[in-house]
Amino acid sequence: MLLLRVQRSLVSPGKRAYHDMITLPSTHKPVVSHGPPGYSAVSGHIVTVFGCTGFLGRYLVSKLAKMGTQVIIPYRDEDEARTFKPMGDLGQIVRMEWDIRSDEQVAECVRHSDVVYNLVGRDYETKNFDFQSVHVAGAERIASVAARCGVSQLVHVSHLNASLASPSKFYETKALGEERVKAAFPTATIIRPGTMYGFEDRFLNSIATSPWWWKLNHSKTQIRPVHVLDVAQTLADLMTTPQVSRTFNLPGPSTLTYEYLLDLVSAVTVRSFHSYAPEIPRGIATAIAKVAQSAWWPIISPDEVTRRYLNDSDVPGDWNELGITPSEIEPLALKYLRRYRSTDSYTSPVAFPARTAS
Ligand SMILES: NC(=O)c1ccc[n+]([C@@H]2O[C@H](COP(=O)([O-])OP(=O)(O)OC[C@H]3O[C@@H](n4cnc5c(N)ncnc54)[C@H](OP(=O)(O)O)[C@@H]3O)[C@@H](O)[C@H]2O)c1
Repeated sequence: MLLLRVQRSLVSPGKRAYHDMITLPSTHKPVVSHGPPGYSAVSGHIVTVFGCTGFLGRYLVSKLAKMGTQVIIPYRDEDEARTFKPMGDLGQIVRMEWDIRSDEQVAECVRHSDVVYNLVGRDYETKNFDFQSVHVAGAERIASVAARCGVSQLVHVSHLNASLASPSKFYETKALGEERVKAAFPTATIIRPGTMYGFEDRFLNSIATSPWWWKLNHSKTQIRPVHVLDVAQTLADLMTTPQVSRTFNLPGPSTLTYEYLLDLVSAVTVRSFHSYAPEIPRGIATAIAKVAQSAWWPIISPDEVTRRYLNDSDVPGDWNELGITPSEIEPLALKYLRRYRSTDSYTSPVAFPARTAS
């Protein structure tokens, strides 16, 4: 105990103490790890996942905890944090309440970790947080505090379409955030996934329930959807690889139009719902989205309307370098959309529509 106190007083405040140096500096191998890989093993890593309570974050935490990693989960809502408990063995999931605006709380969350993931992002602005405060100031704070605390690896999740020249504020601030992260933590790994789909996505589920929002731009916009589990696996694998200071683009394997995706969802759910959905002109959609901002639950934001008119970036994917083959959407669509079928058609076979873009 005395030794620990002495040692803490030797390091500067906010820095990790020597007993937190759980990986070797050169090889990034854990000093202590035991047991076969699995729930009750010890991977030897301590990892913080900011944005763990989101769609991608929940899958990532589950994967990391299953590898025997101790995961620090910064949360804002107690109910959201509760779901993580059974994901890891006793003591492996450590909950910490945090505020993205507080240096001290971010430092508390990363102090013992050797790897930090930043998955924080928001599709829409709220009265307390605009895109700038989440994607730029928040990302910069996490990166600079992680650097100051001596974290050895930072993985920052951005977006495939992040661009300073984008007409979308969301994409623009994502690109700005990347720049600030690289300045604060030069060896950070940046991950840029395309639109992700899975059980609780805001993509296939939204097409099934609100098809009119996907008919903007005459459904001609082209996107490259990617399976959330492929992205989560890539992120989890990065924990055991040495820090790579570069940007990885993770688009889905195919480029598809909204028109095709509407047909796909219609075929899989055995409902021709979207043929009755109206085509809304851009001006009216933007006006509706502006009015929708006065509701206290998210509906659609004017920036989302802008994004519906933007094709996904056509940069090549970097999957090969990460050793993962991204899944095609068709075989998985039934798994995620079967719940929208009626009892009569629950087990009917699917006739997939012909592809309109590839
Ligand atoms: N979903 C996609 O299709 C997609 C595609 C490409 C890139 N991305 C990026 O990938 C990352 C993860 O995406 P996702 O779909 O999992 O996002 P998500 O479901 O919206 O979750 C976002 C996470 O960020 C946290 N967060 C948002 N605003 C915050 C704030 N002001 N303070 C603290 N925490 C805040 C949320 O915490 P609370 O639960 O407390 O709100 C949640 O944990 C994001 O950076 C996103 O931009 C997503």
